[in-house]
Amino acid sequence: MKIAPSILDTDPSSLQSEVDSISTADRIHLDIMDGEYVPRKTFTADDFTDLQFPVPTEAHLMCARPEEWFDSFVSLGVSGITIHIETQSPARTQLLLQSLKDHGIRAGVCVDGFTDPLEITDEVLALADQILVMSVKAGKGGQSFMPESLDKIRLLRDRGFSGEIEVDGGVNLENVASLSKAGAGIVVVGSFLMKKSPAERAEIIERFQAI
Ligand code: DX5
Ligand code: ZN
Repeated sequence: MKIAPSILDTDPSSLQSEVDSISTADRIHLDIMDGEYVPRKTFTADDFTDLQFPVPTEAHLMCARPEEWFDSFVSLGVSGITIHIETQSPARTQLLLQSLKDHGIRAGVCVDGFTDPLEITDEVLALADQILVMSVKAGKGGQSFMPESLDKIRLLRDRGFSGEIEVDGGVNLENVASLSKAGAGIVVVGSFLMKKSPAERAEIIERFQAI
């Protein structure tokens, strides 16, 4: 299983050392919250301009108007951007995905914890490089995993989605094997990993990657 640690709840004053401690991960997951789609505000691209990322990054845009964030994160050099299907119509989601692909960015759609996956239209499914399945309600770290997310993953595979399925929220070493079995290929891990000391993280990353 690939792993994309989330640096949402790390100490902003030691971001570089936090990032260095997860340099064996497959990707680094940047949780961008605008205070509108979700109550909390987190990072902007400016917060990362002086940071050296050891591995590719992806921006999870929990933003009411995700397109307003595209330019700054494309300039930052992220390898992927994920937008929520809840923040615009399916037709506009298709437009935004196409615009990301035109920039050579992995284009992802996110379905929130309580959203019915059938809200992802066939056209969006055909266009998306990646589907991010939230296994919590977007908005904060440290929540409990929603087991119904497993059915969402299986449903996406049954609908013929052959792209990358990523799972985000409450993921740990107890539930990761079931996520792999259901068809996910990469997991976002926040508190389970980042609550451990930096010295312990490489070994935990390895355990996820061995699943
Ligand atoms: C929640 C974020 C998640 C979160 C994951 O809105 O999108 O990426 O930070 O953190 P844990 O693993 O603690 O649920
Ligand atoms: Zn996230």
